[in-house]
Amino acid sequence: MIGDLFVRGGKVVRANGAQTADVWIRGGRVAAVAAGVPPPPDCAVLEAADCLVFPGLIDPQVHFREPGLEHKEDLASGALAAIGGGVTAFCEMPNTRPSTTTRELLADKVSRATGRSAADFAFFLGATAQNADRLGEWEDDPGCVGIKVFMGSSTGDLLVPDDPTVERVLRSGKSRVAVHAEDDYRLKERYAALPPDSSPVVHPEVRDVECALRATRRLLDLAEKTGRRVHVLHVSTAEEVALLKERDLGDLVTAEVTPNHLFLTAPECYRTHATLAQMNPPVRDERHRQALRQGLVDGVLTCIGSDHAPHTLAEKGKPFPDSPSGIPGVQTILPLLLIGVREGWLSLADVARVTTTGPARVWGLVGKGDLAPGYDGDLVVVDPQQRGPLPLSWLHSRAGYSPYVGWALAGWPRQVVLRGEVVYQDHALAGPARGRPLRFSR
Ligand code: DOR
Repeated sequence: MIGDLFVRGGKVVRANGAQTADVWIRGGRVAAVAAGVPPPPDCAVLEAADCLVFPGLIDPQVHFREPGLEHKEDLASGALAAIGGGVTAFCEMPNTRPSTTTRELLADKVSRATGRSAADFAFFLGATAQNADRLGEWEDDPGCVGIKVFMGSSTGDLLVPDDPTVERVLRSGKSRVAVHAEDDYRLKERYAALPPDSSPVVHPEVRDVECALRATRRLLDLAEKTGRRVHVLHVSTAEEVALLKERDLGDLVTAEVTPNHLFLTAPECYRTHATLAQMNPPVRDERHRQALRQGLVDGVLTCIGSDHAPHTLAEKGKPFPDSPSGIPGVQTILPLLLIGVREGWLSLADVARVTTTGPARVWGLVGKGDLAPGYDGDLVVVDPQQRGPLPLSWLHSRAGYSPYVGWALAGWPRQVVLRGEVVYQDHALAGPARGRPLRFSR
């Protein structure tokens, strides 16, 4: 029957630990996770002995560029890259062209993704001074994950730089609000003072620690003042980790970090990759990387978001700072985090927590984020013994580059299962695009 699958003998990794077990999926949902039970008659069997079996990853921050910028990526190519990385659900950002600032534009994205996205999907509404008071009316529309605020300018023209307008956004609606926290006033001063012909090595100085810290501090003040839950996207500094820990606002504030900030360091990444390593907020030095790693392990940082942000190589070839910011990454989350497991600072259960249970809790996803009876039968089978340098040919993003090409990665997804159907194997899609809008309980 459609959506029936028995995944036999893998090491099932969940946020509460890892154990060898079979996963029985019936009608697209997990029916049982238990060891040594015979598969039901006529049920398709996927052999997973010696493999890790993770719940399908959830990437709560990707930029797939449709509509308007499809030469960089579109919903089909981005979703294929997601599935290729074991990401069975993604939440996509509103800085497309036009920006997703109305319920009609959000509905348009849902209809574009339906039948073309290989992974389940949801979209953020972008906040502006014009729509700030309407967002609460639209946030529960089908396929809407929530609201995104850019406090600092990045790719596109979405921007809410001032506290009074951010406060209006926070007072309209109830769902958690995702925020790009860099202080735009300071950013503008620092770009204006940048000497001509600067190298991308100075990117973390232009968008410095104080830019990020100021905005995050302002945001926490506003969250406390309004009682609205917020989510700090791509935390990049040791100082913000310390601030989040010290203020300890419980469920009012959640936060995420990108794999780039955990696995690249400045200045090396800019010397090696130049503008290809340029993203906002910037990758910084080893001190920040260590604090971010510790913050993730301690749970101060709730989840991983790739901030997959493709641009073409020609666009990236513009001289800094006109080169656009963003690094593709939806496909490389899992093998990068497994480096952390091999290095010993992350456990397998941590990986499941920050890529599945964590993002599902932050955004209130229904039926996602674990492998337990009743959840959607979404999973990734990974062979940890299969290692080797990452070839560009495995990557599906239209970007056509990644700082991780050539890295010795282990744990590349062998099969990806969505609601009990094998949708990806042998580095290719295994059937039609079956993605559906994600559902939320808030
Ligand atoms: O580096 C980035 N690129 N940071 C963002 O905030 C936006 C993203 C993009 O859309 O290119």
